[in-house]
Amino acid sequence: MEHILALRGIAVFVKRQQMTPPDTNLYLVGFMGTGKSTVGRQVARQLGFRFLDSDYEIERLQGKAVAKIFAEEGEAQFRVMERGFIEHGHPAQRCVVACGGGLVVPPGMLELLRSRGIVMCLHASLETILQRTMHATHRPLLQVENPAERLRELYTQREEIYRRTGTMVLTDRRPQREIVAHVLRLYRHEAATFKK
Ligand code: S3P
Repeated sequence: MEHILALRGIAVFVKRQQMTPPDTNLYLVGFMGTGKSTVGRQVARQLGFRFLDSDYEIERLQGKAVAKIFAEEGEAQFRVMERGFIEHGHPAQRCVVACGGGLVVPPGMLELLRSRGIVMCLHASLETILQRTMHATHRPLLQVENPAERLRELYTQREEIYRRTGTMVLTDRRPQREIVAHVLRLYRHEAATFKK
């Protein structure tokens, strides 16, 4: 009898756990121009989470634009700032974080993100990324003579690391609300079993 009551207690506990919405952070990674901030903002709204953009948070903390940080302190220092933001610069729960395109690239960063929450990669073809980033002027890595060539190089260098994230969400020729719904579905599924 005691056994049955104990089992029933466990079942009730498990059910309650399943019904409680997860608080796990969601990290959106992926190449520039894949829509991390736009999608992230909408996903955060639907989850009732806070939305954070790593570039914006670093700019706020440093008091200067990413382009200026690159120019004055160099890319390596910017990567240190990105790591700092992930390690101790944001709340551990109930956030959707749009990560700058290169944040996940340095060794150990993917593992660090995974230790903190669910990691998802937004993916787009090189053609789409070229179209979406061609006229933007705020990305220091593309302020070169031949930005298309630079994008191609970076894309080739980084494709493997983005693929290693495991969960890829295709964004090419797909309505935004569908991408948001897909990300939410995947998040709920993965967060239900996430363990820190
Ligand atoms: C970078 C992407 C940018 C920004 C910085 C470097 C990169 O973020 O962090 O210009 O290395 O790919 P977005 O992906 O939001 O454009």
